[in-house]
This record gives sequence, structure tokens and C-alpha cells, in this order.
Amino acid sequence: RSRSPIATPRQFGYFRPSLIRRMYPFFRALLFLLPAESAHHLVFFIIKWSCKIPGVAAIIKKKYQVNNPNLRTTVFGLDFPNPVGLAAGFDKDAKLYKELGYFGFGFVEIGTLTPRPQPGNPKPRLFRLKKDQALINRMGFNNGGVMAAARRLTKRDRQLIVGGNIGKNKDTPNEDAVKDYLACYQALYPFVDYFVVNVSSPNTPNLRALQDKGPLTELLKTIKEKDAEMPLSKPILLKIAPDLTNEQLDDIVEIVQTTGTDGIVATNTTISRAGLQTPTSTVDAIGLGGLSGQPVKNRSTEVIKYLHAKSQGSIPIIAVGGIFTAADAQEKIAAGASLVQLYTGFVYNGPATVRNILKAW
Ligand code: FNR
Repeated sequence: RSRSPIATPRQFGYFRPSLIRRMYPFFRALLFLLPAESAHHLVFFIIKWSCKIPGVAAIIKKKYQVNNPNLRTTVFGLDFPNPVGLAAGFDKDAKLYKELGYFGFGFVEIGTLTPRPQPGNPKPRLFRLKKDQALINRMGFNNGGVMAAARRLTKRDRQLIVGGNIGKNKDTPNEDAVKDYLACYQALYPFVDYFVVNVSSPNTPNLRALQDKGPLTELLKTIKEKDAEMPLSKPILLKIAPDLTNEQLDDIVEIVQTTGTDGIVATNTTISRAGLQTPTSTVDAIGLGGLSGQPVKNRSTEVIKYLHAKSQGSIPIIAVGGIFTAADAQEKIAAGASLVQLYTGFVYNGPATVRNILKAW
């Protein structure tokens, strides 16, 4: 059949999904001209406001959501529409969870929230390591406080699973940390489906000392006791750092089992800077912070494997750390995870990340 000498837009491929896929690198190149935190706020703004235009939400959902009943999964008593979630830190204040659901996430974890609002560390505090497909952040739990987030969640749609990641204020001493976690638990209780007790951020001084056996047992025991008093008990998970030793991981398994904690989120960002492609001088100039993305992938998988073996598969695990592709997600599932989450992969691979993972599930 002869072709018209004048190419139509369809022949040029304007409407092909492959072209849309190639548009993100272009958009990302523009975004990456901005400081990382400004780019984050710009993306937030674009998503929030474009979704207010009639029809836009429907277009995004049609393009990025994968509605396949085979992807449904039940973990710690909750029914997830699919096993791929957005990790904590992207939507700390529960301002965009609904719209983020349009991009195909089966669940969104808000937070880390603290009882009182706090500004976090001075800027700049978020950096890209493009050569490594990584980020370094020392945000320091910047958030508007748990009450403001709870108010936003009153209007939530029950279709999407929402987790509440909770922490303590920077100026709360570790001896009083339990009170902060309990305050967050109580404020969010009516509005979230599960909780994550975050004791693993490297950016709140001394926070990770709460991962030690004594304080951690006390913290989880108290929250579980509070939860048992509530009309309906909610899953309580623990989020751990990738920098723990095997002995510390042994303790974690024991504490989770003795306190009846419902699962583990593994892992948070790492303080390690090993094996980076980015020049050491650049990395040193960035300074302190948690490293996420590709460089944390293998360590995160190792931690999951270890926990899964040690607990003989009895503890549900949400895997997070360096998931960019379907193969990365499957590696985590093979290591023993029941669900996966991502943050840095969404930044580097864009809006189709979840769809691409789910299509190949
Ligand atoms: C995070 N992460 C994070 N985790 C957490 O429990 N509470 C938080 O407030 C934040 N904040 C945060 C901010 C930024 C800018 C980044 C990049 C990350 C950690 C995140 O949830 C995840 O555990 C790690 O980033 C590893 O996963 P990825 O990014 O490699 O997919």
C-alpha cells in the first residue's frame, strides 16, 4: 500500500506511548537545571494544579494506572490494589497523596511527621548524584506538624491505602521520644491504614540510637499497647537503616517478634558513601545526609534477605531502596519482601515508573 508523501502526526509517532516515554528525559533535563528541592516543589505544584483542571486526573489515571486484579495483595490484614508504593518523604505533609495515587501507586506513605511543626535543616539539603542515579538528603524532618496533616487526611478517599510514617521532633530528647511517637499515633489513628515507626533517619541527631535494643523495645511495646486499646488495631511497622550490622538485625527480629510489631520497612537511606561514581570531592562537598537510589539497592536487598531468613519468613517486609525497574522490584520480592516502595526511582524514571513495574509484574 502506497504511503502519502506527507507524513501525518500519527506516522511521526506523536501519539505513540513510546514518544511520551521519551518526553520525561527532556522534562527531567529541564527540572535538573533547578536546585533539587526547588524542582521537587515545582513538580508538586504542577501535579496539584493540573489535577484541578477537569479531565486531567482521568487522563493521568488512564495513562498510568494498571488495573489488574491479579496485582491485588493482602499484607498485614490490608488489601492493597497493587504492591508498589510511594516511600516516605515525598509527600511528608499529606498534601498530594490523592494525586500521587493517579500515577499508579497502590499505597502512599505520608510523613515523616512530628508532633510539632519544624523547619528542618538549613538549605541546601537535597542533592542529586546524577552519575549514580542517587540523591543525598539531610532534610531533617521538615514538616507542618501531625495535626495539619491529619486535617488534610479527613477528606481522603478510601480506595488508596495510606500509611503514616511517624517520628520525633528534633528538640525532643530521646528519653521523651515515646511521647512524640504516641502523639503522632493518636493524631493520625483515624486517618491512616498503617503506621511506620521511623527510627532510622540519619538527619535527626541521635535518632538512630532508638534502634538499640532497650529503647526500641520500649518504644514499640508502648505503641503496640496503645494500639491494643483502640477499637480497631492498625498494623505498626518499623523502618530500619541499611547501616545496621547482622547482630543489630538479629536484635531487630527478636524485638519485632517479642513486641508483636506487624512488619519491617527496609530500608531507609544510608550514611555510607562506598562505591560511588561521583567524584569524592563532589560527594565530600555535599556533606552529611542519607544516600538513596541505585547505591543503596544491593545493601537494601541484603538486609531484606537477612531478615527474611532470620525470621523464617514470619515478618512481612516492605522493601525500599534503589527500586527503579520491574527487575529491581522482583529482586526485592525474591529476597522476601511482600510489598515494595520507591522514591528516588520516581525522580529519575518519571511518571511511568510504577506502570512499567506493574506491567511486567
Ligand atoms: C527520604 N526518605 C525518608 N524516609 C522516611 O522514613 N521519612 C522521611 O521523612 C524521609 N524523607 C526523605 C526525603 C528524601 C528527599 C529522600 C530522597 C528520602 C527515605 C525514603 O523513604 C527511602 O527509604 C529511601 O530513599 C530509599 O529508597 P529509594 O529512594 O532508593 O527508592
